[in-house]
Amino acid sequence: MAFRTNAARMICNSRVIASKRAMSLLTKASTAPMLRTNTFGASATAAFKPLVASRGIKQINFGGSVETVYERADWPREKLLEYFKNDTMALIGYGSQGYGQGLNMRDNGINVIIGVRKNGASWKAAIEDGWVPGENLFDVKEAIEKGTIVMNLLSDAAQSETWNSIKPLLTKGKTLYFSHGFSPVFKDLTHVEPPKDIDVILVAPKGSGRTVRSLFKEGRGINSSYAVWNDVTGKAHEKAQALAVAVGSGYIYETTFEKEVNSDLYGERGCLMGGIHGMFLAQYEVLRENGHSPSEAFNETVEEATQSLYPLIGKYGMDYMYDACSTTARRGALDWYPVFKDALKPVFEDLYESTKNGTETKRSLEFNSQPDYREKLEAELQIIRNMEIWRVGKEVRKLRPENN
Ligand SMILES: NC(=O)c1ccc[n+]([C@@H]2O[C@H](COP(=O)([O-])OP(=O)(O)OC[C@H]3O[C@@H](n4cnc5c(N)ncnc54)[C@H](OP(=O)(O)O)[C@@H]3O)[C@@H](O)[C@H]2O)c1
Repeated sequence: MAFRTNAARMICNSRVIASKRAMSLLTKASTAPMLRTNTFGASATAAFKPLVASRGIKQINFGGSVETVYERADWPREKLLEYFKNDTMALIGYGSQGYGQGLNMRDNGINVIIGVRKNGASWKAAIEDGWVPGENLFDVKEAIEKGTIVMNLLSDAAQSETWNSIKPLLTKGKTLYFSHGFSPVFKDLTHVEPPKDIDVILVAPKGSGRTVRSLFKEGRGINSSYAVWNDVTGKAHEKAQALAVAVGSGYIYETTFEKEVNSDLYGERGCLMGGIHGMFLAQYEVLRENGHSPSEAFNETVEEATQSLYPLIGKYGMDYMYDACSTTARRGALDWYPVFKDALKPVFEDLYESTKNGTETKRSLEFNSQPDYREKLEAELQIIRNMEIWRVGKEVRKLRPENN
């Protein structure tokens, strides 16, 4: 597909200038303590409008809906250390999120200890990352007993399996933290019913634990949502916002446990993973059935999407991506996107219902609680690995300029 490169460059340049202007306004605004308003989805030039005075908190108009967002700048390191000076974070589980959030907190100077099964894969991984048994690495029970803020980062299935042994350790004065609303929201299925006399909060990074770590190391931060289930102390909101920054978040928006879990389960089954995979497969198969070669089918389905067009959507938006393509491509896409939307919307409606009524949770718990779940998962991933489209992808990637 051809690109209107000059037009694209011009639009890009004008947006860079607009965004530089916005940044300069933001910088000016952030030097004064005030409530800032930022307009997204409305006029690009009506960027930041200072409102009334208040510490660093920002309101953003997302296409007409105003939301408060919190950011790392609200919690400088000294303030974080002061806020958590009497706390011990007992981070339970050292998988993807445990690794990212734990190392970020440690680098931030927060007092954090890890609790995992002795001599399991996570125990070994934690030692490799410099956690020391008996000093800041313990078994789950001992870590919870030592902690004031218990961060339950076991896998969702394990949170349910271990709840009976964990619940009695969550005594008054402690705080319980999750990174997913899964366990308490679907308590009829998980049996995870948090004690009513302690604060219960959530910080859900919008990405894998590896990304939580890599963005932190780059001096950036991942976007996260936060929510409060129980606010016994009256400080649960503030604590969750501070913890979000401590684990490596850049900006933080408020949600509820229910909304977090429903949007997360729905999104990963839809556009983020399952939906996009299904769409790639359908398009590829039709091309192959019509005599196109594997490399042509792959390039027109996946390679151009991931290497050329999707990054444009990510950086500048869908309208920019349309603008960067040929008139022929634009005409066709404008005609066909409503067809795809109408065909897919009922599927998304079914998916949301299946998420909300607990069907997805039930399936996940049943599958991931089986002793041989890792082997079964591996067998299914092997099927994907062996699909022609993804075997072709391996070869096409080798041909990228950076790999030559
Ligand atoms: N991964 C993501 O992208 C992501 C993003 C946002 C939020 N979250 C949420 O963050 C939480 C943690 O997810 P994760 O992906 O980091 O989990 P994970 O990588 O699957 O971590 C699993 C951890 O649970 C432990 N574990 C498993 N079964 C256990 C059992 N029966 N008893 C004791 N420990 C057990 C494992 O220890 P062993 O090594 O000893 O088995 C490991 O430390 C979840 O609530 C998840 O929904 C995840």
